Amino acid sequence: MLTKYEEVIIEIKNRIEEGHIMPGERLPSVRALSKELQCSVNSILKAYAELEKEHKIYPVPKSGYFLVGRTPPVQEKQPDLIDFLSAGPDRSRMPYRDYQHCMNQAIEFYKEEMFQYSEPLGLFTLRRQLSKQLQNLQVFAPPERIAVVSGSQQALDLLITLPFPNGKEVICVEQPTHFSFIESITSRGLEAVGIEMTKDGIDLEHLEEIFKTQRIKFFYTVSRFQNPTGYSYSNHEKKRMVQLAQKYDVYIIEDDYMGDLDTRRKADPMFAYDPSGRVIYTKSFSKVLLPGLRLGVAVLPNWMIENFTKAKFAADVHTPVLTQGALEIYLKSGMYSAHIQKLRKQYKTKGKILKHAYLEHLPKGTSFSGGDSGFYSTVKLPGRLKPRHLIKHLKKKNVLVQDATNMYLTPYRKENQIRLSVSQVEDSLISIGVQRIGEGIRELLLKM
Ligand SMILES: Cc1ncc(COP(=O)(O)O)c(C=O)c1O
Repeated sequence: MLTKYEEVIIEIKNRIEEGHIMPGERLPSVRALSKELQCSVNSILKAYAELEKEHKIYPVPKSGYFLVGRTPPVQEKQPDLIDFLSAGPDRSRMPYRDYQHCMNQAIEFYKEEMFQYSEPLGLFTLRRQLSKQLQNLQVFAPPERIAVVSGSQQALDLLITLPFPNGKEVICVEQPTHFSFIESITSRGLEAVGIEMTKDGIDLEHLEEIFKTQRIKFFYTVSRFQNPTGYSYSNHEKKRMVQLAQKYDVYIIEDDYMGDLDTRRKADPMFAYDPSGRVIYTKSFSKVLLPGLRLGVAVLPNWMIENFTKAKFAADVHTPVLTQGALEIYLKSGMYSAHIQKLRKQYKTKGKILKHAYLEHLPKGTSFSGGDSGFYSTVKLPGRLKPRHLIKHLKKKNVLVQDATNMYLTPYRKENQIRLSVSQVEDSLISIGVQRIGEGIRELLLKM
């Protein structure tokens, strides 16, 4: 038996569904509706309060309640589809309700400041909070050296344009690497040299040779859960790279986009081995929070702050203030740490399932990299099998994977790997998906 206010909710929802109330339109006044539906004003108020909680309607003081704007329909996924292609966080685990709460709190607390122009490097109170938060990752830096950016991609894209004190001009980069960074290099026509990234990391002697013989301005490295290989360097490797950078006057841009997910208790970022400014550290809130917020952080050397501030101002004046205010509250309240604890467990489990599935289902001659968090990993295809042929074949089996070919600079391009991300694949489907990939590879090899 429904209570009166529940009946009112159903009535309103029906009216919305049937198009009697359109997005942005005012709902009937409380008094008019109570008369029309012959119920108390309290029942209507309670129903409207519930609908407001569901974010279907919103109140405007002295004007009444309005229907919120239309949200785009969530794309229905095919039930049988196994999507190793999408690399955003799992929709069902996105803490956007908590974040919404923090946005409301930020407005309550900071009021119109959330809607004013602000500092290019970000809200100082957030930078102070970030300075504390980053200590959990062994990154010790004062708020003055911390810049809030519109996604870590923005920091990377600005950094590659700035002059460095070594006066050199060539960028050194792992191959393959994060596609957006390749885009930054090529769209700006910059000179770059690659170093091969395998399932076992990079050849440090080769890195030394490159540092010694070429005019390397900086080395861009994704030090944990590398995209696409999923490789995480050991402390020993990271320390050695920093030593080489110091020896040959090369800077390091350390992209620690998912550092929070590292469960190795003693793992340090490279930044910890030279916090003086040799290592420029970036971190993203996309994979571990909400990518649409476009929030990232860069820890800058003192000599770069002025130039970076100018570049950031020229790019977008500053990152939107409201999302920054909300992040400050999200961090301060402990919600972020609690969320990260959950994510760590989830990705560790996914990683284990994935590795097991690779070992069980991939045919001979096929190898894989990464899989520790499961977020990204690659599968190297056997023989002359091309990723594009496999991708087409796997689509027929309802499995989506990414071609890793464009994650290389053109001179270093290899057409032999696919990238998988398990972020949007349910645990129970990971093994089935990898099994289909294994079958697909075998079937295509038979036809070659
Ligand atoms: C290596 C790497 N760095 C950074 C990012 C995140 O960038 P942003 O913070 O701009 O979303 C990604 C996203 O895929 C990535 O793969």
